[in-house]
Amino acid sequence: MRLRRKGDLICTVLLLSALCILLYIQLESVTPWVGKHEADGESGTERYVTVQPVETVTQTASPSAGSAPENTCRLGQGLEDGRIQVATPPTTDLLPWSYRQYQWQKDCREFSQIINQEDKCRKVNGEPLLLVSIKSKAEEFERREVARKTWAREGRVHGLHVRRLFLLATPANQSALASWGRLLEHESRVYRDILLWDFQDTFFNLTLKEIHFLKWLDRFCPTAEFVFKGDDDVFVNVENIVDFLLGADPREDLFVGHIIYQALPIRSNKSKYYIPEMMYGPGVYPVYAGGGGFLMSGHTARRLYGASKEVDLFPIDDVFLGMCLLRIGLKPQTHKGFRTFGIVRPSAAPHLQTFDPCFYRELMVVHSLKVPEIWLMWSLLHDPDLNCARKGLARRPFRWRAKRKATPGPAGKAKH
Ligand SMILES: *[C@@H]1O[C@H](CO)[C@@H](O)[C@H](O)[C@H]1NC(C)=O
Ligand SMILES: *[C@@H]1O[C@H](CO)[C@@H](O)[C@H](O)[C@H]1NC(C)=O
Ligand SMILES: *[C@@H]1O[C@H](CO)[C@@H](O)[C@H](O)[C@H]1NC(C)=O
Repeated sequence: MRLRRKGDLICTVLLLSALCILLYIQLESVTPWVGKHEADGESGTERYVTVQPVETVTQTASPSAGSAPENTCRLGQGLEDGRIQVATPPTTDLLPWSYRQYQWQKDCREFSQIINQEDKCRKVNGEPLLLVSIKSKAEEFERREVARKTWAREGRVHGLHVRRLFLLATPANQSALASWGRLLEHESRVYRDILLWDFQDTFFNLTLKEIHFLKWLDRFCPTAEFVFKGDDDVFVNVENIVDFLLGADPREDLFVGHIIYQALPIRSNKSKYYIPEMMYGPGVYPVYAGGGGFLMSGHTARRLYGASKEVDLFPIDDVFLGMCLLRIGLKPQTHKGFRTFGIVRPSAAPHLQTFDPCFYRELMVVHSLKVPEIWLMWSLLHDPDLNCARKGLARRPFRWRAKRKATPGPAGKAKH
């Protein structure tokens, strides 16, 4: 009996020590990864890399954040208490190189602004503002020009003041357009519609553009009642947007676009939207709006700015904004006037040309157009001789209305 008990005791002790050894090995296997990160980091620069272990991502913002030069990433900069971890923390060794880099740099989220338009949102006679903001790249001068001359003209539309802004960052390949700095400086002087931030204008950095823009809105444009944000290859029917907004309250939440439900991350590394499982594990993406163009109220923009500080950066900006929407508990509204994947000719109506202005007349946003197409569309729509009845479509007075019942978006896997 006594022997048996002694044996049990020895067994327990042995098991306990085995457990301790296992735990120790586990810890050891984590630390070299941290060390490797630091070794890989750019020597000499103060680049902060994410080394937080799983689930414990809260870091207090460093008190010196304000005094530090804005573009050096320091420990804890840009992090807020209680932000949520959406992506799976990096076990980076198996990730493709660019994703590894992304994971390490994603806490660098504060960059300085090179060109600003402080007076963009100044009010005239207290009239309501619709700010039209367009993501563009330095080299896409023609796209900016055509937008300026057609749909994104500044001025009064049915009682709303439309103002225009282009959102830019520094070109990733500066030798492709050596004069980009002079160009943007001059464009800004002539048109007063350029915002330029000091980070590389790459696909993965579009989320940086998003958060810097939200911050800019909060600081320089708290007066805007409504904000449209879109790409520079869209055609926007601003009159329809304004008509739609006439029934909306800017002090309430409003987020309208082409809403994508139940989209799955793309797991093929050939795609531009490829997201490795290690970066985003939990199945489908939150509900989000196609980034080609969406509309929100000033109130919602401010709430999204608050949320953007608490959500981890994610390489796809539309999905990132979806995470922010989820964070504030706002369900975006889908609207069939927003065609952010372009127009698919309805097979049931083969007579309907995709370039029929009478068809476009009823839309709000059409994405993926070429510069001449944008010009043509706008010009045809504003042709005084446009007669849609001729095509067999009734020329009825048309109006999109706010607070329309949301129609379900495309089910299943979205093309993104
Ligand atoms: C940058 O642009 C130049 C000029 O168009 C081109 O020759 C070069 O290959 C580009 N570099 C990269 C890295 O894309
Ligand atoms: C984003 O911009 C920063 C600052 O210019 C740059 O260091 C980083 O490599 C860019 N990230 C990506 C993924 O392009
Ligand atoms: C994509 O993945 C395959 C294997 O899954 C790999 O052989 C290939 O090198 C990867 N391509 C890129 C561009 O990472």
